[in-house]
Parts: sequence; C-alpha cells; structure tokens
Amino acid sequence: MTQTAQQLTPSAQEAICEALNQCVAETTVSTMLSQNFHWNVTGMSFGALHDLFQKIYEDHFVAQDDLAERVKALGGHAEGQLALMLKRSKVAEHDGNASAEVMVETLAKAQDTIAATLAGTAAIAEEHGDLLTQDLAIARGQVHEKFAWLLRAHLG
Ligand SMILES: [Fe+2]
Repeated sequence: MTQTAQQLTPSAQEAICEALNQCVAETTVSTMLSQNFHWNVTGMSFGALHDLFQKIYEDHFVAQDDLAERVKALGGHAEGQLALMLKRSKVAEHDGNASAEVMVETLAKAQDTIAATLAGTAAIAEEHGDLLTQDLAIARGQVHEKFAWLLRAHLG
C-alpha cells in the first residue's frame, strides 16, 4: 500500500530518513571530492575534466539539498555535520594529488558507490510504500550512473 509522508509509521520514517541521510553524506563528500579534482587536475585533458568535475559538483550540491529536504518533509532530522558525514560515508576524501586518470577513476567509483546507496534507499522506500522517496532515489541513482559513464569514457 502506498504511504505519504504523513501516513508512514515512526519506524518506517526512521528507516527511510536514515537511508536518506546516508545518501546526503555520500553526495556531500563527493561534492568536495569533485571540486578538489576540479581545482587540481592537470594534463592534456585539463579543460574537459575541469568542466566535467564542475558539472558534477554543481549537480551534487543541488542534490544534497533535495535529499536532505526530503528528510525534513518526512519529519526527520537532516544530518548536516561534515564530521558525521565523513564518518558514515562510503565515499572517502582525497588529498587531490593524483594523475587525471586516477582522479577520473576515483570519482567514477564514488559515483558507483552513491548509485548503490541510492538504489538501496529506493528499495527501503518501496518496502514501506513511500513511492515519492523511491522516485527521488531512483532519479538520483540514474544521474550518478550517467556521471560514472561520462567519467569512464575519458579512460578509453
Ligand atoms: Fe571553478
């Protein structure tokens, strides 16, 4: 049975918000990862990668807000502390000292990780009949898989 935000049980709301906060954390860490690479990338593909990394962090910056505000629409607490995000995120920070190839592969793997977290979130939302969160998570997962392809296409 489908459930709106107001109809979810407290335990369903808690499970969905926990999954969404994981998505927020990984999207936020990946935002900084991508901006870090945008600044520090070098080599013959500088222009293309500098621009692509910017597209990614701009997308992620909007997405983290959409995901966190879905938590609020569900009545939960949006976790907005960087230390907590880094602690729970399966996407790690990077020092920014790497070849363009390593940056592309690192960021592509981050996209895979976030897509998997979002797919898991969609499944949890579906389990509880929360189609509107499910739709958001699916849409975001598709964006991350597209970015993974756009990145890996540079590796030949
Ligand atoms: Fe810039």
